[in-house]
Amino acid sequence: MTDKKNQVSRRQFLNYTLTGVGGFMGAAMVAPMVGFAIDPLLKGQKDTEFIYVMDVSEITNEPQRKTFKVDQVDGWYESQVDRTAWIFKTEEGNILALSPVCTHLGCTVDWASNEQYPNQFFCPCHNGRYTKTGVNIEGTPPTEPLHAYEYKVEDGKLLLGKAKKR
Ligand code: FES
Repeated sequence: MTDKKNQVSRRQFLNYTLTGVGGFMGAAMVAPMVGFAIDPLLKGQKDTEFIYVMDVSEITNEPQRKTFKVDQVDGWYESQVDRTAWIFKTEEGNILALSPVCTHLGCTVDWASNEQYPNQFFCPCHNGRYTKTGVNIEGTPPTEPLHAYEYKVEDGKLLLGKAKKR
């Protein structure tokens, strides 16, 4: 004896088949459009190129504050934003370009702005301090050094890339 309830009629079979094929074709057509629409979101921020900031001949042993503009792409929105670096030559003669963003909670540090600590970077928000080479001073709130910009020297010009953790 056959159980009629469990049998699929020809009409039902055709309905299922056509719905499945239609759904598959619809998904195949829509998927590339969705990918195209959200592509900028998936890409995230554009990689920063290296930007000219100053001539190497202008770099001294005293940190100098330099501001430069970088292109930023965030989703569909493109803009130019300011970046700042403290640039100087170390005692060994190496170029160092430090980010002014305090690694504690993101305030802006200044060079030699606190009379008590004339050779340090100082963050006024919670009295964070860093040595000249950006190393956080024990006993102050920051727990890691200031980030340093990647750099290149081309034809006597200093170009900065992204600020990275050290
Ligand atoms: S944000 Fe700089 S010390 Fe807190």
